[in-house]
Amino acid sequence: MQISPSILAADFANLESELDAISTADWAHVDVMDNHFVPNLTLGLPVVESLLAVSPVPIDCHLMIEDPDRWAPPYAEAGAKSVTFHVEAAADPRTLAREIRAQGARASMALKPATPWEPYEELLPELDMVLVMTVEPGFGGQTFMADMMPKVAAVRESVRRHGGEVWIQVDGGVSASTIEQCADAGADVFVAGSAVFNAEGAANNIEQLRRLVTGHGH
Ligand code: DX5
Ligand code: ZN
Repeated sequence: MQISPSILAADFANLESELDAISTADWAHVDVMDNHFVPNLTLGLPVVESLLAVSPVPIDCHLMIEDPDRWAPPYAEAGAKSVTFHVEAAADPRTLAREIRAQGARASMALKPATPWEPYEELLPELDMVLVMTVEPGFGGQTFMADMMPKVAAVRESVRRHGGEVWIQVDGGVSASTIEQCADAGADVFVAGSAVFNAEGAANNIEQLRRLVTGHGH
């Protein structure tokens, strides 16, 4: 059970101290948006390189970009330990996952809410993680889509049948009130932006989220 706070909800003028504030997390989730795959623009490789130089935890890069076949491997090469591309944007997800692994990162594939899992099940041997989006990608602070839980369960069932260590990540609207149903459905990596970076304090929020899913193992 791992917690990956999304720095999309952090103070972008103070990213180094915001990373320090989540040093008890398992990962730092970095949302790269290109204003084409999603209607929002965040940051790119130069900023990720700077974050990699100072982050106390490994970086989990979520690429919401067009043409990940071309643009994703450099994030792995730069040192991101997990690189997630969207299958809707990838021309050749199998080759892309192999390239990400060849650069030394965990290869992860994301599914938007309207994208089914079953057509991609055969890619499982190429993957270290599947990200089931629980909001429409593009913005933080949106309402959790509980109707994605059957998809999480379907991925978990495929992983069980296939064997091996493939993590299942959920991202979007994950909070103290929604994280347990994600764990019960089979998720084991939890991204949370607004539920971590708020007035309660990041460390407290991480601890609370972790406590809620402890014992919910599959
Ligand atoms: C949305 C991003 C998320 C976002 C989650 O497209 O992929 O990582 O930061 O934010 P919350 O947890 O606030 O829904
Ligand atoms: Zn994300």
